[in-house]
Amino acid sequence: MTDKILKNIVILTGAGISAESGIPVFRSESGLWEHERIEDVCVPEALQRNPQKVHAFYNKMRRSLADKKPNDAHLAVAKLQHEWPHVSGGSVTLVTQNIDDLHEKAGSVEVIHMHGALLSARCEFCGASWCQNKDTSPGQPCPKCGKIGGVRPDIVFFEEMPHDMELIERALAKCDLFLAVGTSGVVYPAAGFCRFAKNVGATCLEFNLDKSAVASDFDSGFYGKASETLPKFVDALLSGNKVTSLF
Ligand code: APR
Repeated sequence: MTDKILKNIVILTGAGISAESGIPVFRSESGLWEHERIEDVCVPEALQRNPQKVHAFYNKMRRSLADKKPNDAHLAVAKLQHEWPHVSGGSVTLVTQNIDDLHEKAGSVEVIHMHGALLSARCEFCGASWCQNKDTSPGQPCPKCGKIGGVRPDIVFFEEMPHDMELIERALAKCDLFLAVGTSGVVYPAAGFCRFAKNVGATCLEFNLDKSAVASDFDSGFYGKASETLPKFVDALLSGNKVTSLF
């Protein structure tokens, strides 16, 4: 593989990047989806059938964020976002499937939360969304349109369209390097981003404990804790190393 000039980077993160900060992943023996039924808390019908349960579930998760701190992998992502434009003149687009706020706590800017965010709520009637630090409830009026019954956590449920897909596809279309960190590669459309990036000629690398379900789509992978593998990679990239010498 020849070394090309790298400018634009897209980073996709998943639950694995926050695991070392004490937030459980979705798919593992002790994962969230082993303890909860997706159809009870993460599909549109659940919100209609039992809104109290759905609000309570996300209220508990939102409250649990208060004492969570970013780890070295989040900090490495933020460092790359801040320093890469000065080193290369290019950009770093950060797309996360995570609904936690650890990228923001690490100092990242313009985080694209494609699956929504716990610290946000929205109204199904008027489409408004706003910052939400406190609990939500089904009877709460929308602060924008005033209607009752449409406020929900700003979480993208299964069967719903992820946020900001046009923005993400525009970034992927001009990316030279695609990094996937701590994601199992089983939930689309995110699992298909590597193929998209490959098709436009990007080098694609994954960082995971083990090979993901789409590992064969990547040029290479760094296997181990993201808090260890990612900071080393970021430092090497920022020091001017050619990307092909890093894997
Ligand atoms: N470092 C790197 N990778 C890790 C670490 C770690 N310390 N710990 C776990 N991982 C990896 C696991 O090996 C696994 O591949 O993180 C991945 C987590 O996978 P999932 O639990 O499936 O999380 P994710 O890929 O983010 O899920 C995607 O599914 O349920 C939906 O909406 C939810 O956004 C979520 C989406």
